[in-house]
Order: sequence, then structure tokens, then C-alpha cells
Amino acid sequence: MSKSTAFLTLSAILVVLGACSPWTSPQAGRNIYMQNCVSCHGADGRGGAHIPDLTALAARAGGRYPQRMVLDKLDGYARGAVIYEGVEMPNFGDLLTGRLTRVETDRGLSRLLPEPIIALDAYLRTIQR
Ligand code: HEC
Repeated sequence: MSKSTAFLTLSAILVVLGACSPWTSPQAGRNIYMQNCVSCHGADGRGGAHIPDLTALAARAGGRYPQRMVLDKLDGYARGAVIYEGVEMPNFGDLLTGRLTRVETDRGLSRLLPEPIIALDAYLRTIQR
């Protein structure tokens, strides 16, 4: 096997492993959610006064889960607070320090993201109604 073939094979294996890593699974996302998000969005994800309902992300976006918005929100919220009717989504800098993994987004783009963000995205998908 040539060096470049070996590299490509290894890369492919790592991508596959990344896709099913226990750190990026919906279950991992659920754990992170329970530790960081429940206080505002609720254990059932339905939010409340001034807090968005996270089980209706897809419904609000016209039926399609808005992955890019969610990833941008989770990946970007540490960089600048957005104020929504007086309530501020806190900075979760810790979540952004996870190991980086490359993911294929719904739109076919490849994006390098911290694993906790990928896991939260995977979890939020499972709670859409
Ligand atoms: C202190 C309360 C608070 C906590 C804790 C919190 N959020 Fe939020 N979240 C908000 C508020 C307020 C908004 C709406 C304003 C904004 O977009 O910043 C929001 C918006 C969002 C949105 C965008 C929703 C939309 O339709 O625009 C997502 C996705 C989200 N939060 C996910 C999470 C996740 C995942 C966590 C845990 C890592 C989390 N939030 C923790 C208060 C919070």
C-alpha cells in the first residue's frame, strides 16, 4: 500500500469512527443537555417564557430540522451573547473545548466541530415533535 493510500484509508476509518463515536451520540448529547441546558430549556426541552422550545426547532423552521442554525448557535454562542426579550443564553465555553471531529452536515458541507456540540445536535434532533 502506498503512503497516500494508507493515509486515505486511515482518514476514512477515522471519519467512520468519528461518526459513531460515543462522544457524539444522541445519548452523550442528552447527558450534556441534562447538565447544561435543563435550567432554562427544561428537562422536556419545551422551554418557557422567553426561552425557546427546543422540541419545535424543526416545526418553527417549516418542518425541516435547522441544523445549521443549531450548530451556529451552539458553536457561536460563546463568542457573543444574543439577548432575547431580556434573557441571555449563557456562555458554555467548556463545551467548545471538546475534541474536534469533522462532520458531514445535512447540506453536504464538511465542518470541524467540538464533539459536545455534535452530540447536542444529535440529541436535539431526537426530541423534535
Ligand atoms: C440561561 C438560560 C439558558 C440556558 C442554560 C441555555 N439556553 Fe439555549 N437559549 C436561551 C435563550 C434565552 C435563547 C433565545 C435567545 C438566543 O437565541 O440566545 C436560547 C436559544 C437557544 C437555541 C436557538 C433556538 C431558536 O429557535 O432560535 C438553541 C438551539 C439552544 N438555545 C440550545 C441550548 C442548549 C443545547 C443548551 C445547553 C448547552 C442551552 N440552550 C442552554 C437560554 C438558555
